[in-house]
Amino acid sequence: MTKERKTVFLVMFGPPGAGKGTQSKMLVERFGLSQISTGDILREAVKQRTCLGQQAKTYMDRGALVPDEIVVGIIEDRLSAQDAGGGYIFDGFPRTVAQADSLSQVLSRMSREIDCVINIHVEDEELRKRLSGRRVCSRCGEEFNLFFKPPREDKFCGKCNGELTQRKDDQEETVKERLEVYKKQTEPLIEYYKTKNKLKTISGVGGIPEVFRKTCQILEDLAKR
Ligand code: AP5
Repeated sequence: MTKERKTVFLVMFGPPGAGKGTQSKMLVERFGLSQISTGDILREAVKQRTCLGQQAKTYMDRGALVPDEIVVGIIEDRLSAQDAGGGYIFDGFPRTVAQADSLSQVLSRMSREIDCVINIHVEDEELRKRLSGRRVCSRCGEEFNLFFKPPREDKFCGKCNGELTQRKDDQEETVKERLEVYKKQTEPLIEYYKTKNKLKTISGVGGIPEVFRKTCQILEDLAKR
């Protein structure tokens, strides 16, 4: 990031369950960035039963990727509609080489490029545990994790007493598929961004605050450039 630039364009990258969403939300709070999470946008569309949601659901429920042209369209809409503030965090996008190429084209029309890709590395066994343990409050959206942040009562939210649910794609078979899809379609982006000298890999294990210290350090280093 050069001194005259006021915004940073960051990709939060990693396999399902690596902590991309968790870290992105914390960076938004700390640095005033705008988060664009394709997963959150698609889940909201499914919940609202929009045309996009109906299209996306068939892919999401089985752990497959939603087609590139749909997600690239979402990103273009958000970039034109949303105020950048301190910059953007792309959370869970891009996920294929075609998406990464499209992102680069969209940004170049804005005379911008990705400043950094934070690759959060976590082993599969830990990922499976995190995803299978996640529970979400159906009323207020608060997240719990049976292993890492257990709810006080088994099936109810400690905040609003709403019922806790499991994301359909967090069921064991679908998690397996998501991890396979990641390896086949998304992992090649590590090499893609490495050759562009954009990649910073950190370990995503060791507690959320510890990982956050590492992601903050990367942003602070970027700001000094
Ligand atoms: P999306 O919602 O993006 O899901 P994902 O990346 O597969 O998985 P998560 O969001 O669960 O992972 P995360 O890395 O954000 O981890 P989180 O912080 O939540 O996508 C869902 C679906 O939408 C896709 O399968 C696809 O169908 C579609 N889609 C989305 N984007 C797309 C795209 N670009 N192209 C095509 N299709 C797309 O954490 C997970 C759990 O771990 C939580 O319980 C959390 O509390 C816990 N946790 C986090 N960090 C730690 C830590 N350090 N220690 C212990 N626990 C931790």
